[in-house]
Amino acid sequence: TPEVRELLLSRITDVHDYPKPGVVFKDITPLLADPLAFGALTDTLVELAGRYGATKIVGLEARGFILAAPVAVKAGIGFIPVRKAGKLPGATLAQAYELEYGTAEIEVHAEDLSAGDRVMVIDDVLATGGTAEASLELIRRAGAEVAGVAVLMELSFLPGREKLAGALAGSPLDALIVV
Ligand code: PRP
Ligand code: MG
Repeated sequence: TPEVRELLLSRITDVHDYPKPGVVFKDITPLLADPLAFGALTDTLVELAGRYGATKIVGLEARGFILAAPVAVKAGIGFIPVRKAGKLPGATLAQAYELEYGTAEIEVHAEDLSAGDRVMVIDDVLATGGTAEASLELIRRAGAEVAGVAVLMELSFLPGREKLAGALAGSPLDALIVV
């Protein structure tokens, strides 16, 4: 709803010149510290999970974990961590993606996802779309289906939505706030 959107927006702070000069960092820590706002965000994402018909929730390390875990608990479905490379102890699938400078890699436990799973991906920000796109590749490679992607914030001055279109293959991308 517009009221929830307004509440969420009021709890996100612009930090100028962080992490480098010229960049405006969107700080969600005031939102996390406000149980009303965090609760409203969680409830909105739980509702989306229902609409997607999701059977698993994937959170993207690190900030995506914070938002996704309470959604999984409230929706009564499993939480699957997609981690930065080297953090998961079991057999993993790995996917590299582009950063502004160089590349990064994320991983998921191969046994956590399988055919028949409908997976909702949750993260805080969609910027270039590189992270989310890599997570969708992992989900497909694990044999599961992408139910949809939900982010708190979409940075509309970056082409993340366009970048993700192919990997989404028609599944929804929902941003609660577009800046
Ligand atoms: C940030 C943000 C998103 C990602 C978006 O994560 O939390 O996950 O970048 O950028 P993209 O759309 O260009 O891929 P980051 O890995 O920087 O930090 P985090 O570990 O604090 O989440
Ligand atoms: Mg992140």
